[in-house]
Amino acid sequence: MSAVGDAPELQLDAPRDEVLQLAVTLISQAWNSFDQARPGQPTVDDDLRAVLREPLPDTPEPVTRALEEAAQILDESIAQPRPRYFAFVGSSGLPIGVVADALASCFDANLAVYAGAASAIEEQAVRWVGELVGYPVGGGAFTSGGTISNLTALAAARERALPGARAAGMGDLRAAVYCSAEAHYSVMRAAELLGIGAANVRPVGLDGDRRMVPGELAELLDRDRAAGVTPVAVIATAGTTLTGAVDPIAPLAALCQERGVWLHVDGAYGLAAACLPETGALFAGLDQADSVSLDAHKWLYLPKACGVILVRRREDLHHSFAHDEGYLPHERHEPHAVDVTLEYSRPFRALKLWLAFRVHGAEAFRRAVRRNLRQAALLHELVTAQPDLEALGPPQLSIVPFRHVPAGVADLDAHNARLSVELQRDARVYVAPAAIDGRVYLRPCIVNFRTSDADVAALVEIALEVGEALAET
Ligand SMILES: Cc1ncc(COP(=O)(O)O)c(C=O)c1O
Repeated sequence: MSAVGDAPELQLDAPRDEVLQLAVTLISQAWNSFDQARPGQPTVDDDLRAVLREPLPDTPEPVTRALEEAAQILDESIAQPRPRYFAFVGSSGLPIGVVADALASCFDANLAVYAGAASAIEEQAVRWVGELVGYPVGGGAFTSGGTISNLTALAAARERALPGARAAGMGDLRAAVYCSAEAHYSVMRAAELLGIGAANVRPVGLDGDRRMVPGELAELLDRDRAAGVTPVAVIATAGTTLTGAVDPIAPLAALCQERGVWLHVDGAYGLAAACLPETGALFAGLDQADSVSLDAHKWLYLPKACGVILVRRREDLHHSFAHDEGYLPHERHEPHAVDVTLEYSRPFRALKLWLAFRVHGAEAFRRAVRRNLRQAALLHELVTAQPDLEALGPPQLSIVPFRHVPAGVADLDAHNARLSVELQRDARVYVAPAAIDGRVYLRPCIVNFRTSDADVAALVEIALEVGEALAET
């Protein structure tokens, strides 16, 4: 039905307050269901499957019905905020972040261009992240996450190492980047997109704790320079995705300074742990990095997407991203964020972290991260106490890979691969597998403020129970 006269289109078919009240009820139900683990994962029922096969609707249906179905679909989807979600690097949907996202969407500021107070909030939140982890921030921005933060840092590093490459292209220039053999593959993707080439990502060897070996890096840098290849950047990972290893940042920073190479610290997963005084030694040298990245949607518990890229010198970002276009005149005194970021239209991601810091205070985040670290140590202890389980090694952060090794099972990799599938089918806990040194492990990662010690113990008990049943078949 079309609107009458000059009334605007796209009006809700129920009073606003009623729609909002329903949204409040649905969100509250979800939060209540996240408080404790549930016994399993509900399956998608037939009525809902039918809804999901419908073609594009041309006519409206009641907003309340559509919202209720959306909530049901979400309830039957895999939600990372649940306390027994241990797969990948999850996120927790911190409630204040959910409310902040609703507000930010409502006002829909565009953080590409100067957005008044919203721009100032982004700058303040960027500074607060630096204060939290001990990094001297010169500039930075919120991104969609670690992938874009790494690309942003490497674009700035490329322009520093090869001035003018952004305009002229890479032509015959030969360049390389260096990272741990277990760095996140977004480094590879950035090298592909920047014309450096995935083949020129040099995987540096690891020590017994799976940390990049600085001596090996020095050799690779020198060999490349001698061969006419320009080192663009070294990427130290502060918490690898596979095992949570933190590369030795201080010696890497010293090497980079000696050789005039950009140091980026990819802390998408692990850098939040630098907020604790007791992890000081692990992250020593962070303040020497040219850029660092951290995902607040990982270990600062916020809903996706909330990545942050920080740089020591704002002009490094400016040199690689600024443009002057007719539709974006730069006559204002206030800088446009698009001059230091990759995206154009950009949502107000900073609001949720800014509000979270205000509502909880940094100390509450420190306590939550410390609790997760303690839970990782507990998980390692519980696993090593079980003769039929084998842990990879004591965790550096909050990833604790382990596998089921019952006597009499010949192919333990096939067994653990099946175990991870069975555990996901069982659905009391959610954990993903990983291949480490050619072996299949379960790879739990604890980055959720809702996870309790009992949830950690349940992971071990359920893995053993399901593993034993599987070994007998
Ligand atoms: C170390 C590291 N870097 C980068 C990323 C990519 O982050 P995003 O998924 O937010 O793009 C991840 C994701 O887990 C990661 O663990």
